[in-house]
Amino acid sequence: MTTFVDLTAWLAAEPADAALTDVVQTIAATCARISRVVASGALSGSLGAAGSINVQDEEQKKLDVITNDMLSEALKACGPVAGLASEEMEEVEPTGRVGGYLVTFDPLDGSSNIDVNVSVGTIFSVLPAPAGHAPVEADFLRQGRDQVAAGYAVYGPQTMLVLTLASGVNGFTLDAEGRWLLTHRAIAIKADTAEFAINMSNQRHWAEPVRRYIDGCLRGKDGPRGKNFNMRWVASMVADVHRILMRGGIFMYPWDAREPDKPGKLRLMYEANPMSLLVERAGGKAIGDGGDILDVQPTRLHQRVPVALGSANEVEAVRAEMRAG
Ligand code: AHG
Ligand code: MN
Ligand code: MN
Ligand code: MN
Repeated sequence: MTTFVDLTAWLAAEPADAALTDVVQTIAATCARISRVVASGALSGSLGAAGSINVQDEEQKKLDVITNDMLSEALKACGPVAGLASEEMEEVEPTGRVGGYLVTFDPLDGSSNIDVNVSVGTIFSVLPAPAGHAPVEADFLRQGRDQVAAGYAVYGPQTMLVLTLASGVNGFTLDAEGRWLLTHRAIAIKADTAEFAINMSNQRHWAEPVRRYIDGCLRGKDGPRGKNFNMRWVASMVADVHRILMRGGIFMYPWDAREPDKPGKLRLMYEANPMSLLVERAGGKAIGDGGDILDVQPTRLHQRVPVALGSANEVEAVRAEMRAG
């Protein structure tokens, strides 16, 4: 029988300090608990709306609130965490400690899929905390390249944790005893793909470059991309990005004219940045409006960005369209 390395043993062999290891273990343990709440669905009364609106102007689901509370409580109790920020919280929350790390998270990604029993997830990003003072919002506003760890848990047919620390991307599967076992080593995204993921219902609202790129895919073998494309859209970023890490593809959530003043739907600090780090570390690319997402200098905690990420050659094709204007 195959024996698997567990997350604790794997972390011990990584060049991460004890404090960072503690933060990652805390997040992983909380995601394991979240997985049980998600799996219990109607049995625990956790489906449906919470009856509140979050800072994003979205209707919160009960699970958005429950998972946010679970992660917040666990991270506040985790010694090396100086501050946290979440999709579901208006302001950053200092923990009262100084130094160590900051954590930003999307506690429940794919809210629209909760009530229909389709994969959802949790996304997280770890940044260094400032030395010498309790963190304020400005301390969180660091480029994605400054992340010291990033990852997600996907609550699907299997619950998996996909993680990057100093280098490489590795995937762990949750077993029945609640242990994360290394099942996917050195995940790599192939450079070529014939599968795209985008919400096609927004097509009429896109800008010209995105329209041209997708039109090229839809024209298939005789079009500019020279091959026939398949399309997938789970509507949980975690699940769509997980598919891309497993078998390649391109995922896009571009700017669109429904909300012209917003650069996109997805949030930089706890969706785009952690996913972009994972994708780049796996050999893929991640761009916003033409530049790399990881180079964006954030100016606001909840800022949004357009996103195109995945297989390098397709992301470069999108970038070329954006440059052509
Ligand atoms: P969240 O549930 O954390 O608010 O994020 C939802 C995001 C993302 O997971 C997904 O890719 C996208 O919204 C789906 O958007 P559409 O409903 O427009 O397809
Ligand atoms: Mn949301
Ligand atoms: Mn999300
Ligand atoms: Mn969310």
